[in-house]
Amino acid sequence: MADKLRIGIIGCGGIANGKHMPSLSVFKEDVEMVAFCDLVEEKALKAQGEYGAEGSKVYPDYRKLLEDKSIDVVHVCTPNRSHANISIDALEAGKHVMCEKPMAKSAADARRMVEAAKAAGKKLTVGYQHRHKPEASYLKALIERGDLGEIYYAKAFAVRRRGTPNWGVFLNEYEQGGGPLIDIGTHSLDLTLFLMNNYKPRMVVGTTYKKLTNPDCANPWGPWDEKQHTLEDAAFGFIVMENGATITMEATWCINSIEPVQEGSCALHGTKAGAQCKNNEVSINKDEFGRLVDIYPDLKTKGVAFYEGIVETPSITEARRWIEAVRNDTAPLVLPEQACVVSELLEAVYTSAASGKPVYF
Ligand SMILES: NC(=O)c1ccc[n+]([C@@H]2O[C@H](COP(=O)([O-])OP(=O)(O)OC[C@H]3O[C@@H](n4cnc5c(N)ncnc54)[C@H](O)[C@@H]3O)[C@@H](O)[C@H]2O)c1
Repeated sequence: MADKLRIGIIGCGGIANGKHMPSLSVFKEDVEMVAFCDLVEEKALKAQGEYGAEGSKVYPDYRKLLEDKSIDVVHVCTPNRSHANISIDALEAGKHVMCEKPMAKSAADARRMVEAAKAAGKKLTVGYQHRHKPEASYLKALIERGDLGEIYYAKAFAVRRRGTPNWGVFLNEYEQGGGPLIDIGTHSLDLTLFLMNNYKPRMVVGTTYKKLTNPDCANPWGPWDEKQHTLEDAAFGFIVMENGATITMEATWCINSIEPVQEGSCALHGTKAGAQCKNNEVSINKDEFGRLVDIYPDLKTKGVAFYEGIVETPSITEARRWIEAVRNDTAPLVLPEQACVVSELLEAVYTSAASGKPVYF
């Protein structure tokens, strides 16, 4: 491995520009972006212009990028449909892979990715950046210390009362595989399972709805083409784990509700205490000295972890931890086996909704 990790970006669209490339560019001492690939050449050229190292290259076909043996890591930032094939080809070409969320369009694809990473002996992780929020790290440590006791009920929220993304591939069922459940529900479910440290589902019941229509629905990004929008606008899941714990989930792009937006959020209910991670706020509730108390830890002050005043966004923390995992040959925070369970559960909600029957694992 060269002094700096040599990284290739596959898919130079919204999330590559919004998260991966700016976050990686913070770590100039450790990494360099040496290759850019997009089906639309101008996008790859623009990315190269903004983020490319000297001598970096642009490829229209990702397979050509993978032939470059000097590339250590690739970031897969294409629509959901191609996550599995591109990631598997990259692993087989000897690259470590950071794949955008959800891991794959289908559970079978996600399982193929897990197997490919094992067979190649390379690292594979998934871009679930909500795990890297300071609130999530704090709650994870509290839970590992046993402060919540046994978590037997949790809620995973990804609720936008209005927020249907009407650009790019978001409304394209073939490319993405679903609506709010696979788009934003995936983050909340991942965070919930991670905090519970429970990856063994037993049964899932799901329902999905497409009820709200244009032009009257006050979508912040304006109307969508009703003929194009064949996806759900709301999905709900009831998940029972092997140990008896229950998880309910709500994922909506559009619903009549007075609740404000809650993305990447969850509520955890344990035998010793409860906790919520809602948007960017964390709270703990329990009984103490004969009364109920609610605690709101302020994680924005400069505690010891941020002694030098270093404040990172979750996207930058995600990039930093990923670079550290590759350089130090340690496990990434988001393991492929865990992300695979998220994909299996999302698919089970869709399957149950379509069949009207529970899905048993
Ligand atoms: N982590 C997050 O919070 C978050 C947010 C938004 C999107 N995403 C995920 O990121 C992925 C991409 O979404 P986006 O919004 O950036 O989409 P986008 O359409 O803006 O960008 C995708 C890019 O990939 C390119 N592409 C498609 N197939 C390709 C291929 N075979 N080879 C090379 N390039 C190819 C497209 O031309 C496009 O430029 C999706 O899986 C989405 O779920 C994650």
